[in-house]
Amino acid sequence: MSSLSNLFRKKSIEKIQRDAALGFSDSEGSHSLKRTLTVVDLTSFGIAAVIGAGIFSTIGNAAYNGGPAVVFLFIFTAIACAFSALCYAEFAAMIPVAGSAYTYAYASFGELIAWIIGWDLLMEYAIGNIAVAISWSDYFTGLLSGYGVNVPQFLTMDFLTASRGFAKVSELLTAGNTLEQIAVMTDIGSVYAAYQAWTTSPVIAGIHVVCDLPALVIVLIITTLVFIGIRESKRASNIMVALKLAVIFMVIVLGAFYIDPKNWSPFAPNGAAGVLKGVSAVFFAYIGFDAISTTAEECNNPQRDLPRGMMYSLVICTVLYVLVSLVLTGMVSYKLLAVGDPLAFVFGSGGVNLPWISGIVAVSAVIAMSTVLLVFQMGQPRIWMAMSRDGLLPPIFAAIHPKFKTPWFATVVTGFVVAIPSLFLNLTEVTDLTSIGTLFAFVLVCGGVLIVQQSGEKIERKFQVPYFNSKFLAPLLFALLLAGVFVFNGESMKIFLTFGDWETDKHKLPLMVYLAAATVLMYFCFTKNLSLIPVLGLLSCGYLMTELGITNWTRFIGWLLLGLIVYFLYGRTHSKLLAPPAEPSTLL
Ligand code: ALA
Repeated sequence: MSSLSNLFRKKSIEKIQRDAALGFSDSEGSHSLKRTLTVVDLTSFGIAAVIGAGIFSTIGNAAYNGGPAVVFLFIFTAIACAFSALCYAEFAAMIPVAGSAYTYAYASFGELIAWIIGWDLLMEYAIGNIAVAISWSDYFTGLLSGYGVNVPQFLTMDFLTASRGFAKVSELLTAGNTLEQIAVMTDIGSVYAAYQAWTTSPVIAGIHVVCDLPALVIVLIITTLVFIGIRESKRASNIMVALKLAVIFMVIVLGAFYIDPKNWSPFAPNGAAGVLKGVSAVFFAYIGFDAISTTAEECNNPQRDLPRGMMYSLVICTVLYVLVSLVLTGMVSYKLLAVGDPLAFVFGSGGVNLPWISGIVAVSAVIAMSTVLLVFQMGQPRIWMAMSRDGLLPPIFAAIHPKFKTPWFATVVTGFVVAIPSLFLNLTEVTDLTSIGTLFAFVLVCGGVLIVQQSGEKIERKFQVPYFNSKFLAPLLFALLLAGVFVFNGESMKIFLTFGDWETDKHKLPLMVYLAAATVLMYFCFTKNLSLIPVLGLLSCGYLMTELGITNWTRFIGWLLLGLIVYFLYGRTHSKLLAPPAEPSTLL
C-alpha cells in the first residue's frame, strides 16, 4: 500500500516557494539564474515560440480541408488554449521555478503523473521540433529554387509523402490522365513533386532512398548553437520577433488588397468534418505560449509577469492567425492551399504573382522557424535536466559542460532525437503526435489546478484563475457544446447507434472515453462546486483530443506505456523523494 502511495509522492509547493524566495532553484539548493526578463521580454519569447510552422506551413492543409471556415477552428482553439493558459499562469505564479508542467504535476498529482507529463513533453518539444524542421526545409528549398538552386527532390522530402505521391499519380495515370496534365493540376497539392521524388530516387536493396536532408542539417546547426551556449540574447530574440510580426502584418495588409470575396464562397465547402480535419494543424500553431513558464527562474517578477506574458502572446497570436486565415483563403481558392509554404505561395506565381513579396515571406519564414527550433531545442534539455535533478533520469542528463556551461549531454541527445527522425518522418504524422501530446499536457495542468484548489492547502498565489462556480454553468455549457457538435457534426454523434464492426467501432472510442470522462467531471462540478475555467479547459482540450483519431491515440498510448517502462526500470527507484510522503516540508 505504501509502495503504491509512493507513486504519488508530491513535492511541497510551500517548500518550492520558500526556496524560490531565497533565490534557490528547485531541488538544487544552488543559486538561481540571473533574473532579467520583463513582461515585454516574456511576451516576445512567447511569440518567438508560437509563430512558426503552424502559421507559415500547416495552415495550408487545414485551409485546404476546411475552406475559409477554418477561421472558426482558430477561434475555438484559441479559447481552449486561453483556459489552459490561465491554469498554466496560476501554477507559474504558485511554483515560480523552471520545469513547467512537469514540476506543476509533481506538486499536484505526484511523481507518477509528473513522470508521465515529463515524458509527454518530449512529444511537445522534440517531436514538435521535427515538424518545425520539416516545414523549415519546405521553405528553405523553395527559397533556394527561387534562386535557381535545385536540391534533388528525393533529398527534400520524407519517404511516406513520396510513396503516397507516387501512388496517387499512378492512380491518376490509370484513370487516363497524362503526366503533362497531372503536372499542371492545381488542386492536388504537391503530389506531382512527390511522384518525381519517388521516381528519381536511388534504390538501394529495393528501398527508395528518399529523405529530408535540409531538415537534418538545420537541426544539427541549431543543436550546435545550443550546445556551445549561444543563447539568443534578449535583443536578438526581440529583433527576430519584430521581423516575424512585421512579415505577418505585411501578409495581412498587402494580402487584404488581393482578397476576392468569391473565394470565401462556399465558406465551409467540406462542412464541419472538413474543418475539424485541421484540429491538429491549427492547435500546433498555438503551441509554445506554455514554454514561457520554463523561464520562471529568469524573470524579474515571475508571479506577476508570467501570467501576463502568456495571455498577451496568446491574444496577439490569435488576432494575427484569424486575420491570416481570412486573407489566405480570400486571396486564392482554398483548393490551392495544400502546399508546404502557403504564405509564400499565395504571393508567388500560383497566387497573385508578386515574386519579391513571396521571397520576403520565404526568408522570414526560414528565420521565424529557426527561432522556434531554438526555443524548443533549448527547452527540451532543460526539462530533462529538471527530471534528472529529481533523480528520475540518470545524473548525466543534468551534467553541465565545464566550458560552455550548458546541459551538454541532454542537448546532444535532444539533437539526435530530433535530427534523425526529421530525415524520414511525415509532417502530418508528427504534427498530430505533437498536438495530442500537448493537449494531454494542457488537460493535466487544468486538472492539476482543480486538485490543488480542492486540496484546501493554504498556498500563497499571486495569480489565481478567476473563480466562477461550475455547478450549473458547466453542465449547461457542456450541453451546448454537445448540441453544437450534434448540429454541425451530427455524424460523429451517431456513435451509439451501430456496433459490430471493430474497424468502424474503434474510431468511436476517443469520443466515448471523452463523453464518459466528461460526465464524471460534470458530477464533480455539481457536487464540489469546481472552478469553471479549468473545467472548461478540460472539456475543450479533451474534445480537441477526440478529433485526433484512433491511430494517434494508439501511438500516444504506446508512447506513454514505453515511458512507464522506463520509469519503473529506473526513475521509481532513483527518485530523490524516496521517503514516504509524511510531512511535506521534510521531503526535499
Ligand atoms: N507553434 C509553433 C509553430 O507553429 C510550434 O511552429
